[in-house]
Formats: sequence, C-alpha cells, structure tokens
Amino acid sequence: MSNQKPDNPFFTSTTEIPDEFFCDRKKETEEIISYLLNGSNIVLKAPRRIGKSSLIKHIFNQPAIKEKYNTLYVDIYGTKNAADFREELQRCFINAPFAKEFKVKKKIESYIKSVQLDLGSYSESGFNLPKIGLGNYHAPIFSIDEIFELIDNADKPGLIVFDEFQQIQDYPEKMAGIIRSFIQQLKRTRFIFCGSSRHMLNNMFSNYNQPFYNSATSFDLDIIGLNAYTQFVTDAFAGYNKTIDSEAVAFAYYLFSGNTYLMQALMKIVFSDTQENTEANKELLLKCLDEMLDRKDSDYRDLINRLNSKKERNTLYCIAGEGIATGLTSTAIMKKYNLDNASSVQNALGNLCGENLNIAVNIAKGTYILQDRLFELWIAKRGGYMELKLANVKERFEKERSLMVSNPDIIAPNL
Ligand SMILES: Nc1ncnc2c1ncn2[C@@H]1O[C@H](COP(=O)(O)OP(=O)(O)OP(=O)(O)O)[C@@H](O)[C@H]1O
Ligand SMILES: [Mg+2]
Repeated sequence: MSNQKPDNPFFTSTTEIPDEFFCDRKKETEEIISYLLNGSNIVLKAPRRIGKSSLIKHIFNQPAIKEKYNTLYVDIYGTKNAADFREELQRCFINAPFAKEFKVKKKIESYIKSVQLDLGSYSESGFNLPKIGLGNYHAPIFSIDEIFELIDNADKPGLIVFDEFQQIQDYPEKMAGIIRSFIQQLKRTRFIFCGSSRHMLNNMFSNYNQPFYNSATSFDLDIIGLNAYTQFVTDAFAGYNKTIDSEAVAFAYYLFSGNTYLMQALMKIVFSDTQENTEANKELLLKCLDEMLDRKDSDYRDLINRLNSKKERNTLYCIAGEGIATGLTSTAIMKKYNLDNASSVQNALGNLCGENLNIAVNIAKGTYILQDRLFELWIAKRGGYMELKLANVKERFEKERSLMVSNPDIIAPNL
C-alpha cells in the first residue's frame, strides 16, 4: 500500500477502506468475529453514517473471516418487494468470487446451457457474463432459497450480510417469515443483519411475535471514542509530514457528536488545506467547516423548499436554534420562534420526524434534535448565530449522550 499512498488518508465516499486508513473498531471487530465463530447470527445496529457498512467490509477482510468463509454483502436499500430482494441477492451472488466454486458453477453452467445462451460464456476461471446491451441476454433466475442452498453447500461456510435489512418490513409480502423459514433450513451459513433503524430492528428481533425473534445476537455500534479518533487523525497527518492540534480534533469530534462521516469529511478538507511540515489548528478547521457548509448550500436549500408550510419551517428553525429542543409547545419557545399553537407544532414535528422527511428525531420524551448536525450548523450560519453553535460543543455533546443513554428505546438519532 505504501508505494501507492492515496492523496488523502481520509475516506468519505467508500465503505471499502484499506486497513491502514481504517480507524479503530478493534474491539468491535474482535467481538463480532468471535460471535460468528461461535455460531451466532448478528443484528448490527447504528444510526446513519456511523460506520456499519465500513465495519462489515473491514471484518470481511480479516484473515479469520476471509480464510474461513465465503462472504456476500447484499445492500437491500431501495428494494421494494420480494422480487427486488431476490434480484439484488442474485446479482451479488453471481458477482461474488466464490461463485466460481464448482458446485455453484455447475449449477449456473447447466442453467446457461439449458437456455442455450449464445451470449456470455463460462470457462474454468469463471463466468463471462455478457455486457448489457449486446443482445437478448436474460440472467439466469435462481430463487432465494436456491441461492441460500448453493451458498450453504459451497466449499466454505457462507457469511451473508444484509445491509438496511429493516427494509423488508415495508415489502407487501410477509418477507421476514419467508426468509426466516429458508434460513432455518441452512446448516452452516451465518448472517449479519444490519441497519440504521434501531427501532424497527429491535421490533423484528426482540419481539416474541416476530419471525426473527431471538435469532441473532444484538450488537449496537457506538461512535468511535475520542482518544481513538484523535490518535487516528494524528497518525494520518504524521504519515504525510503534517501535524494537527489535538484540541482541534476534539473540537470537531464534539461539534459533530462523533459522527464518523462528518468528522472524516471535515478532516479530509483540513488535511488537504494543510501544507507539509505545518500544523493544522482550530482556526483552519473553522475555515474548512465554512467550506463544507458552502458545498451543501443547494442541497439544504432544496430540503427547506420541500417543507410544505411556514409552521414546519419555523418548527425546524426552532429545533435547529435550540440544538437539543425541549418544551416546544411552551409559551416562551412558541413566542421565540413564531409558532402559533401547540397542535400545529405537534403536526409539524410529526412530519419532520416522519419517514418522508426524516429531518428531526425524538431522542427523549418531548426532546428533539436534527438528524444531520451539518444542516443544523448551516441553518445557524444563515441565521447569523453560528458563534453560539461553536461555543460549548463539549457540553452539548455530553448532554445529548446522556439523554440517549437514558432513553435507549427512543429511536437513536442519525446525528
Ligand atoms: N472506522 C472507520 N475509519 C475510517 N473511516 C470510516 C470508518 N467508519 C466509517 N468511515 C467512513 O465514514 C463514512 C460512513 O460510514 P458507513 O457508510 O460505513 O456508515 P453506515 O453506518 O453504513 O452509514 P449508512 O447508515 O448511511 O449506511 C464512510 O464514508 C466511511 O468512509
Ligand atoms: Mg451503510
């Protein structure tokens, strides 16, 4: 890796992060691997952009997993029904290197022969699927249970990850029951069910009446610790003869409440704006934050334009202004943010937290925050009160953490 060092050691647009640029997660990696080796399936939950998918890919890369399992990662985000699920599962399966294994290959070969496919070919080294647009190519169709069975009977045990697994609850079919019954037939395949909707996943896996009840060990992925993140950033800078003030790293950490994506995105800019043999400090970091906010300008404007009414907008500005907003229907707050009456605020909150907008989240009884801290900061910048947001970031972080810890059943925020 060292002879092809990337220009920037902070990764933001991929979940395939080389080990040397992957921050910490040692304990989580070890623990998850040991659950798997002990025969458990796992349900991995964390708010958005904390690092679930990256952790899964990292685990796939560890020798204990890489050498022992055929791994398959299936992201079902955006799938709407059982047919979409099957299609995505098959697409990932056919493209997986282990599908070259002989039994799987034979099965696909015989299928290809049976439909007398003249496009696309296979050889000892694997399949050459035809390029899209070349002709009347129809991919072979395997049913879900057939794919599971092929994986279960391959040379090594299978490890299948379904990312955004809560999605199946929105299918018109009773998908959880269907998948669960297939899984029960398998002898040696392990599963990781992954997702950001803790509430839905808890319901699927901890509710006695649900098909997946008690079928996987629950694992809540927390944010990366401050010390581990600071060490990671310091080392990353040092690898390029640059330094960074550890207080600036801590400031970013608190400001974004440890959200991995936002911290990495900011550090990426700070890194590229730091000259070799110089030190990045908080002043530079604030300049880079400003740049980050400017880059999101049109996205956030669009988001505000999606709000139907002034009431929703004012309720949004209220949550953004307060940061951790509580007592939204009190006279003082309603007056401060021009909110006309309690029931319209309740309505607006329902919409802002609803699946459609998903802008705000309820972190404790009557307490709301915005899902995206950058959006909160952008609103503050526009409203001319950014200074307030940049003061006391540590206290804000600690307050939010303690509320979330004491209210574990309320949907965890996507900070
Ligand atoms: N341990 C890590 N070290 C370095 N970068 C990381 C780490 N974990 C995550 N990231 C970065 O943070 C970003 C968000 O991570 P990832 O996409 O894995 O989160 P997620 O929880 O799966 O998010 P989503 O809910 O949106 O699917 C990624 O772009 C990745 O590059
Ligand atoms: Mg993900």
